[in-house]
Amino acid sequence: MDLFEAIKTRRSIRKFLEKPVEDEKLQAILEAVRMAPSWANFQCWRLLIVKEKGTRDKISDLSYVESFFSPMGYKSNPSKKALAEAPVVIVLCANPARSGVLWGQNYYLTDAGIAAQNLMLAARAQWLGTVFVGVFEEDKVRSLLDIPASIRIVGLFPVGYPREEKTVGPQRKTLKEICYYERWSAV
Ligand SMILES: Cc1cc2nc3c(=O)[nH]c(=O)nc-3n(C[C@H](O)[C@H](O)[C@H](O)COP(=O)(O)O)c2cc1C
Repeated sequence: MDLFEAIKTRRSIRKFLEKPVEDEKLQAILEAVRMAPSWANFQCWRLLIVKEKGTRDKISDLSYVESFFSPMGYKSNPSKKALAEAPVVIVLCANPARSGVLWGQNYYLTDAGIAAQNLMLAARAQWLGTVFVGVFEEDKVRSLLDIPASIRIVGLFPVGYPREEKTVGPQRKTLKEICYYERWSAV
């Protein structure tokens, strides 16, 4: 699939078939993460690949954070089921000590964000689905998976074959709303 086609048609996928993900497709996704740019090429990310159903179920149970969702009226994370349903969950971790901090900006999140987009586009390019799940009980997922305290878990990505082809998603702002030329010119 052409890159722009993948960018345009990628959607957050939250319903998956049971069909396993072929090893070569999973490897291609991991390879896409490996090639991402990062602060000083420090490559602060680490990936944990979870296939065991019991572990995926536990991760799914930890994807609701009451203080985050209940004010919005959510009873659950919209991706809770997806984490149990998809045959693979990629846990995207990062070591903040292995990236930059400048003017108060923590670039490990940027590094991990770029890695995440490579991951999602590599999935889409192979007709696989995924979704960035950023809301979960980090400490509990960390202890479930033996992740050291110095490592942050940036996102969870259920990966699998979509149960439906989803091409329409939440609307984006127009270029006019997000681009200024030569000088900042918000009105
Ligand atoms: C940093 C980040 C965190 C997110 N966390 C969640 C989440 O916890 N649960 C969920 O269902 N979707 C989550 N999403 C998915 C967004 O809701 C989704 O990308 C957005 O609504 C646009 O829809 P689209 O991906 O289909 O284009 C997250 C996305 C990002 C980038």
